[in-house]
Amino acid sequence: MKIALGVSGGIAAYKAAEIVRLLQDHEVWVQVIMTRAAREFVTPLTFAALSGEKVITDLFGAGTEPPNLESSVEHIAVAQSIDALLVAPASAGILAKFAAGLAEDFLTTTFIATKAPVIVAPAMNVNMWEHPATQANLTLLRSRGVRIVEPDSGHLACGMTGPGRLATNEAIVAAVMETLGTAQDFAGKTVLVTAGPTREKIDPVRYLTNRSSGRMGYAIAEAAQRRGARVLLVTGPVAIAPPSGVEVTRVETAEEMREAALRFLPESNVVIMTAAVADYRSKEQAGQKIKRKGAMTLELEPTSDILAELVRKKTSQVVIGFAAETENVLENARKKLVSKALDAIVVNDVSREGIGFDSERNAVTIISHSEVVEVPEMSKREVAQRVLDAVAGLSTVASKTV
Ligand code: CTP
Repeated sequence: MKIALGVSGGIAAYKAAEIVRLLQDHEVWVQVIMTRAAREFVTPLTFAALSGEKVITDLFGAGTEPPNLESSVEHIAVAQSIDALLVAPASAGILAKFAAGLAEDFLTTTFIATKAPVIVAPAMNVNMWEHPATQANLTLLRSRGVRIVEPDSGHLACGMTGPGRLATNEAIVAAVMETLGTAQDFAGKTVLVTAGPTREKIDPVRYLTNRSSGRMGYAIAEAAQRRGARVLLVTGPVAIAPPSGVEVTRVETAEEMREAALRFLPESNVVIMTAAVADYRSKEQAGQKIKRKGAMTLELEPTSDILAELVRKKTSQVVIGFAAETENVLENARKKLVSKALDAIVVNDVSREGIGFDSERNAVTIISHSEVVEVPEMSKREVAQRVLDAVAGLSTVASKTV
């Protein structure tokens, strides 16, 4: 795993040295990028000595004229090669530049050029932290999927007391490891994930299905596997490849998915039902292709509710449902949480453009009996991590399984 650690200006810059060491203890390779302001507080030499790597300080090579072309393409190479970008400490100025998309030095350019997840650990004076501009920037960054490691409250270098002190190095490193999916909090557990649509046959060439791409379920399967779980993936027909290292069972119909899920239930600790199971199937399946002959009526019958049956037959398993809603999103999801006796439900508003079905991105709300977690729009891989964080945090899971 490789991350870039951006160090911006502030008294807390020296703390980033310890972060380098902690990340290295987790076998993470760290490329340090310092802003000009950071170099007023710590010398690049400190980080070079610790990381064993050259420290990047400028986009165009220490303000040389003409610009150093080699380093002007280097930010793209760094941006493409990293698994995550961490900025600690993140100053109010850096947050503002990230929010505005201002690419003016190596760090801000890397932020704009990378597709890797970004984690920022702000540190600043309490008034700067509380300023509406900073708070608006944080809200915007959060809504774009940036993970914020909230500062601690306490006595600040400026002499004031309040929020603004850099979070502990342990909290920052834990957020990075979680983002990288390397926290092994599911070690020794078996997670059953259902994914994709089902296909209900009408005749030999036609079927009823839906727009599910399987991406959300596959991302959860991959994340759980990376976090140490044995993963049983029961999947309807999708166009994407399953993550490596998971045990895949391919099914077509709701009935086949039901059989596979029930078969795997006893050996599972956690069940995450992301599949978009068809609610109805054709009452009769024609053995031969149905010929066109004017108007026809297709009689449908309900499929069995797999989730309800899993809950009826479960012993100690933690069961998580998904809900795709188009109206009264939270209210409907809460009703399903209770009526289906789930441990948690993950709801997405599929009426929103660009997220959910058939998309790389999603925004969800995770509702359990004790809390409601809003996950703003981000990639499905990151949403998967948040869902697993919530699963791991469920008190029932904590005591019984994970
Ligand atoms: N589900 C299931 N078996 C079905 C239909 C749905 O196990 N036959 C599961 C889905 O995998 C999902 C959850 O039930 O985890 C909720 O699916 P959703 O379609 O939103 O809810 P329904 O119960 O079908 O309710 P409705 O269609 O009335 O909103």
